[in-house]
Amino acid sequence: PFYTWVDKHTCIACGVCGATASGVFDYDDEGLAYVKLDNNNGTTPVPIKDEEDFIDAFESCPTESIKKLTLPNR
Ligand code: F3S
Repeated sequence: PFYTWVDKHTCIACGVCGATASGVFDYDDEGLAYVKLDNNNGTTPVPIKDEEDFIDAFESCPTESIKKLTLPNR
């Protein structure tokens, strides 16, 4: 499984991740991305159905703000 969180300090609100993996990413009031599965904690696995879209988003983020983990964040 994959776990993920977004580094809001480097996200530039480009909008790619939510468009690519709408089941995983959403945006806050400032347009910065976060993981909606677990309020950006990186503790809930990315659903199998969203894994492919998640990888696409991960590889497409222009600032490498999307973190990909294989164990829950702690
Ligand atoms: Fe931000 Fe990267 Fe998404 S810049 S909006 S985390 S694709």
